[in-house]
Amino acid sequence: MRIILFTGKGGVGKTTVSAATALRCAALGYRTIIVSTDPAHSLGDSFDRRIGPEPTLLQPRLWGQEIDLLHQMERHWGKVQKYLAALFAWRGMDGLVAEETSILPGMEELASLMQIAYLADSGDYDVVVVDMAPTGATLQLLAFPEMAVWYIEKIFPFERKAMRIARPLMRTVTDMPLPEEGMLDAVEELVKDLNRLERLVSNPDISSVRLVLNPEKMVIKEAQRAFTYLNLYNLPTDAVISNRYIPDEVTDSYFDDWKRRQLVYNELIDDSFAPLPIFKVPLLANEVVGLDALQQVAEAIYGQQDPTTIFYHGQAQQVLKEGSDYLLLLPLPLLDKHDIQLHRGIHDELIVRIGNWKRHISLPQSLISREIAGARYRQNQLEIRFRGSH
Ligand SMILES: Nc1ncnc2c1ncn2[C@@H]1O[C@H](COP(=O)(O)OP(=O)(O)O)[C@@H](O)[C@H]1O
Ligand SMILES: [Mg+2]
Repeated sequence: MRIILFTGKGGVGKTTVSAATALRCAALGYRTIIVSTDPAHSLGDSFDRRIGPEPTLLQPRLWGQEIDLLHQMERHWGKVQKYLAALFAWRGMDGLVAEETSILPGMEELASLMQIAYLADSGDYDVVVVDMAPTGATLQLLAFPEMAVWYIEKIFPFERKAMRIARPLMRTVTDMPLPEEGMLDAVEELVKDLNRLERLVSNPDISSVRLVLNPEKMVIKEAQRAFTYLNLYNLPTDAVISNRYIPDEVTDSYFDDWKRRQLVYNELIDDSFAPLPIFKVPLLANEVVGLDALQQVAEAIYGQQDPTTIFYHGQAQQVLKEGSDYLLLLPLPLLDKHDIQLHRGIHDELIVRIGNWKRHISLPQSLISREIAGARYRQNQLEIRFRGSH
């Protein structure tokens, strides 16, 4: 059982790359389902067919599903949301505002991600390919299960037994809406499902996140940030797909500048995401619609390789706390002794150079304002120390 998740900035080719991956998996004999959790569904456009909110057979062993957000919300969050809306309205919030506010940020997409756990547990599929919503939102969501559990436990700290006894009494002293028995069941169920999802997506033997990007400055920047947070949240990331490079065959001088820039950006991509493998997909002569074009993309990404392969094991960056300091750890292949040069770029950027080796890192928010106390190379790892704030 494998779960392969694709993320990246809007428009970089997530849907295309996910569809190509799923198609190749099915062709290799895996029972495969591709789901999109991006509310802007376009899986149907990629396959050039209508895909419904229920698994739709597209090819032998290949199903597609465009998740219905509203339905998923109602199913996983409906009862809880109704209670929150009632509670907010009781506190004096306007009815409509209370309804809107009761949808916690991210809950809609999280509910749709929960479908992944359901599909994975169904036993019907060998591979679940997920075409995720654009980077920012999705990343927090994957970390969200734990956060959501924390929130929920804060909002509903009621002991169920205590509630059963207290409810009649409280009814006589307050008109505050009290959670019903069914609602507490729903919360318990929700917490269970969230934990299950978290366990699945953070298990490197099951799940792999793949970052899709284009050789363009803004896109790379966002992918660097995404990569940092994936590492921080312990989400196993095993490959980068650099999509839409202009191939050498294109000799039109109009593209000269683009091609020159791409050389620079290809290097930046290597420096930012190594040791992950970087798969390159050329800009095709036309938009990618239909099975033939998707097969072409799959060929470009994987060649003869099986997409269910785990392409990278381990974590390319790690942050550990040591006393009040933080340590940023980067696994490094055996290096000769060289000077370690650290250079702070603008805002969150850290550039590390050791001899010919170079790495661009986007620092997580919590490290940006800290002073770097030093760096050393130890046990095949580079250790960069960020001084604790006092
Ligand atoms: N390698 C490629 N060559 C040509 N067109 C591409 C390529 N990759 C994606 N496209 C086209 O770019 C558009 C956006 O791709 P899509 O996969 O929908 O991006 P996302 O899901 O990230 O928003 C689509 O029209 C798609 O057909
Ligand atoms: Mg898309």
